[in-house]
Amino acid sequence: MFAQTILLPAFAIITAVAAQSATICSQPTATINSNADASQYSSCSSISGDVVIGSTASGIIQLDGPETIGGDLTILNATALTSFSSSSIAQIKGTFHAEDLTLLSTLSMSVLTAVKTIEFISLPNLGSLTFSSVVTEANSVTVSNTFLSSLVGLNVTTVQTLQIDNNPHLVEFTSQAGNISSAAVFDANGAGLVVSFPSLTWAANLTFRDVGSVALPSLQVINGSLGFYENTLSSISCPNLTSVGDFATGVGSLAFVDNTQLTNISMNALKSVGGADQIANNTILNGISFPALVDVGGAIDFSGNFTTPQLPALGNVKGGFNVESKQAIDCDSFKAEASSSGVIQGKFVCAGSLSTVSSLGSGTATGSGATATGSKGAAVSYGINEAAAGLSVLGGLLQMLL
Ligand SMILES: *[C@@H]1O[C@H](CO)[C@@H](O)[C@H](O)[C@H]1NC(C)=O
Ligand SMILES: *[C@@H]1O[C@H](CO)[C@@H](O)[C@H](O)[C@H]1NC(C)=O
Ligand SMILES: *[C@@H]1O[C@H](CO)[C@@H](O)[C@H](O)[C@H]1NC(C)=O
Ligand SMILES: *[C@@H]1O[C@H](CO)[C@@H](O)[C@H](O)[C@H]1NC(C)=O
Ligand SMILES: *[C@@H]1O[C@H](CO)[C@@H](O)[C@H](O)[C@H]1NC(C)=O
Ligand SMILES: *[C@@H]1O[C@H](CO)[C@@H](O)[C@H](O)[C@H]1NC(C)=O
Ligand SMILES: *[C@@H]1O[C@H](CO)[C@@H](O)[C@H](O)[C@H]1NC(C)=O
Ligand SMILES: *[C@@H]1O[C@H](CO)[C@@H](O)[C@H](O)[C@H]1NC(C)=O
Ligand SMILES: *[C@@H]1O[C@H](CO)[C@@H](O)[C@H](O)[C@H]1NC(C)=O
Repeated sequence: MFAQTILLPAFAIITAVAAQSATICSQPTATINSNADASQYSSCSSISGDVVIGSTASGIIQLDGPETIGGDLTILNATALTSFSSSSIAQIKGTFHAEDLTLLSTLSMSVLTAVKTIEFISLPNLGSLTFSSVVTEANSVTVSNTFLSSLVGLNVTTVQTLQIDNNPHLVEFTSQAGNISSAAVFDANGAGLVVSFPSLTWAANLTFRDVGSVALPSLQVINGSLGFYENTLSSISCPNLTSVGDFATGVGSLAFVDNTQLTNISMNALKSVGGADQIANNTILNGISFPALVDVGGAIDFSGNFTTPQLPALGNVKGGFNVESKQAIDCDSFKAEASSSGVIQGKFVCAGSLSTVSSLGSGTATGSGATATGSKGAAVSYGINEAAAGLSVLGGLLQMLL
């Protein structure tokens, strides 16, 4: 009897603690504003809902204990937070979102390997990631407006979306990704950013702006669009690339625009471009050659200061053909392809020795040798329909063709 009166309350207390900790681990949102808050979760092996680090959190926050977060881990606008770390979280099933953390200089997730979505935005004081175990699984990675000089710690093999922009200190990016099923975009990072995708075999869309070099040695297929804009790279080589976009549907463009140091485009296996193949404003690009190119679903649109383009395999250009060069070029064979053989089906312009050149829609050719023949009528078949699809990815292409 005496023993029971002692035991019952003790049992009741243990049950209450267990119930409380189960509740705390499975509540929809765990809000943490201090280390005292964080320590409440130390006995949770997983937190099933979201974790929010409140905007009043300051200094150092350490969340140790949970191995899995079932929802999102959000750290938003905690402008006095200097460090966030966890030595236990291995997986975040939702989004790891860190944004507007003015003072954050340490982000240490020593065992994290899998996250559904990474969004690191506006982290002006974060120079590096301390992801010792390396995140190898993430569907989507956005790193925007940070002080990061490297993304070591992120090494994903399969990814849908990569958005890497406005990281002025980022000078090197290497990814083991074998494929990118939606899009990768690089824009306004460190001067001369060196991008390398040694294993990438296919990607839906790739856009490169402001990069110093790009290595795509294994690339075979671009399902959507591939664009190089305003880069400082001197050469672009995709030795194994056979197709860009889909010729059957006319979707997916290839563009090289405003690359002022570009001297060499080497895509010797490229057979098919679904939409437009555009080359413009690459100031010192002196030669253009696509030795294997047969099918172009949109337009061929080359303007600049180059010798006669080498397109020996051309078989079917559904859109227009606009080639304008400041150098003397030989248009005869192209003219034959536009008039008699039917290889080039859209509006035809080919001219050399021009003082000014323009790409499709941005003006008309002037100067000796300018020839225009419209073999298709209204809305000149320049491949504009497909460009609408490319616009969302590449930006600007539609304007350039309209
Ligand atoms: C960020 O937090 C500060 C104070 O902590 C608050 O005044 C401000 O409204 C917050 N901004 C956003 C966008 O939440
Ligand atoms: C990335 O992962 C690949 C294997 O998937 C490995 O070969 C490579 O060394 C890793 N790189 C980094 C920087 O962790
Ligand atoms: C995508 O790449 C990954 C990593 O190389 C590979 O395991 C996977 O089979 C690829 N998926 C497709 C559909 O190509
Ligand atoms: C390029 O393609 C060839 C032939 O398919 C293949 O043997 C080679 O390994 C590929 N190169 C790379 C870097 O993937
Ligand atoms: C892209 O093309 C590759 C190779 O043909 C194919 O395996 C992949 O499924 C395609 N991806 C998309 C998103 O269409
Ligand atoms: C990338 O290209 C595909 C075509 O394969 C297109 O349907 C899709 O909308 C593009 N993705 C993005 C994110 O723009
Ligand atoms: C262009 O680049 C390719 C591959 O990198 C190389 O083989 C070729 O010699 C270069 N051509 C010129 C004219 O530099
Ligand atoms: C090339 O540069 C000229 C002059 O800056 C500009 O008007 C034109 O739109 C550019 N062309 C393309 C395709 O961006
Ligand atoms: C065009 O290229 C040729 C050969 O490289 C060069 O001599 C000439 O100065 C260039 N013209 C212009 C206007 O850039």
